[in-house]
Amino acid sequence: MRVGVIGTGHVGLVTCATLASMGHEVVGTDSDEEKVRLLQGNMVPFHEPGLPELVSDGISSGRLRFTSDPAESLGDAKVVFICVGTPSKATGEANLVAVERAAQEVARHARQSTVVVEKSTVPAGTAQQVRRTLVRERRDATSGLEVASNPEFLREGSAVEDSLHPDRILVGAQAPWVFEVMRRLYEPLIRNGCRIIETDINTAELAKHACNAFLALKISYTNGLARICERAGADVVAVADIMGADPRIGRAFLDAGLGYGGSCFPKDLQAFDRLAARLGYDFALLREITRINDEALEATLEKVRDALWNLEGKRIALLGLSFKPGTDDVRFAPAVALARRLIDGGACVVGHDPQAMSNAKEEVAGLEVAADPYEAASGAHCLIVCTDWPEFRDLDLQRLSKAMAYPLMVDGRNIFRPAELESAGFSYYPTGRPAFS
Ligand code: UGA
Repeated sequence: MRVGVIGTGHVGLVTCATLASMGHEVVGTDSDEEKVRLLQGNMVPFHEPGLPELVSDGISSGRLRFTSDPAESLGDAKVVFICVGTPSKATGEANLVAVERAAQEVARHARQSTVVVEKSTVPAGTAQQVRRTLVRERRDATSGLEVASNPEFLREGSAVEDSLHPDRILVGAQAPWVFEVMRRLYEPLIRNGCRIIETDINTAELAKHACNAFLALKISYTNGLARICERAGADVVAVADIMGADPRIGRAFLDAGLGYGGSCFPKDLQAFDRLAARLGYDFALLREITRINDEALEATLEKVRDALWNLEGKRIALLGLSFKPGTDDVRFAPAVALARRLIDGGACVVGHDPQAMSNAKEEVAGLEVAADPYEAASGAHCLIVCTDWPEFRDLDLQRLSKAMAYPLMVDGRNIFRPAELESAGFSYYPTGRPAFS
């Protein structure tokens, strides 16, 4: 099937590559000509495991192309995916200007009956606006352009795996032929046993916000528990394990720490809250999730201040700068916010990250970076674990401790076993677990 994809960011590029790998003929388009040039030259402009290989396979098979000319991408497409950014406005609402522009492009260039699919996360009701735009641009209500919602559930760092083996495919649409086309599109995944959930468009749009907000709720719930555990002398990791043993709760997303970041949860929580307000419902719980998330960062800062006394003249090492492991993305990364606060407080901050150092340096004025964790720790008065990259778990703790000016660790992701830290001579401040100094 011919597929056009508007927007070649994280979601768009993964969509392009996975659909091409399923045998479809995909043409991705982006208004950023530099990005298109990179992709045409077989270069993926961000870190995502497995994606460069998939893009390269797609290009060499002839099934995947990139262009800055929307006509080339959209003209003959049976399905067009809108994968453009929906950043937050100052009010917290989603900025949907790029979605409108994408709809205008489709109306201008589509030459056959086409399914116009929203893949970007959008507030419920957006499809109606997309449909109106298509009709107005075409000046024809029966132009053969039909809207569908097909929200993405992929996670950065495992986006390829999530897209090739999703736990569900969600399609919101109205016309039966649209469901038929979407079933044909995803046929290889459905054949492999993946469940497809078909529903109306508003439900599909809303379900995406509901999922992200609920996952963020689990994280903030655990971070609230961490604050209580610290005061009660209990262990939040053990509490989470006990909770997670109940299948009605589940263990996933119950890891306390510095809180969530990234391009999805912070923005989607705000947009969902604004949508609820616009619809006349005060969904105060959503704002509480954000408040507890902000508090998680403050609690970590407080531990650092408590352990170090004055920040001025202190050297602080940050392990991990990306918002989560497996990515070079530092958007809304807790580590970035923490680095800024520590530098503003007078500390000298040096970070190490397996992938995100150059992005973090661009974001944080005055941030130093080190080639490896030991170099970062060298001469440091405190080390803060900000991102749970798996490789940090295997660090030589004795060597780390010896390299530091003060062997003091604030574990913002609870990646270490307290007993190991103790025998390496560390003062250890984990999150929601008993500290020792
Ligand atoms: C999230 C969702 O998990 C995806 O299902 C969704 O498709 C995506 O947003 C999106 O809307 O595009 P992502 O932002 O890539 O995916 O990353 P997550 O793995 O969800 O992690 C988000 C943040 O929560 C990270 O900062 C992570 O460190 C933090 N987190 C996660 C915790 O603090 N504790 C946990 O227990 C789990």
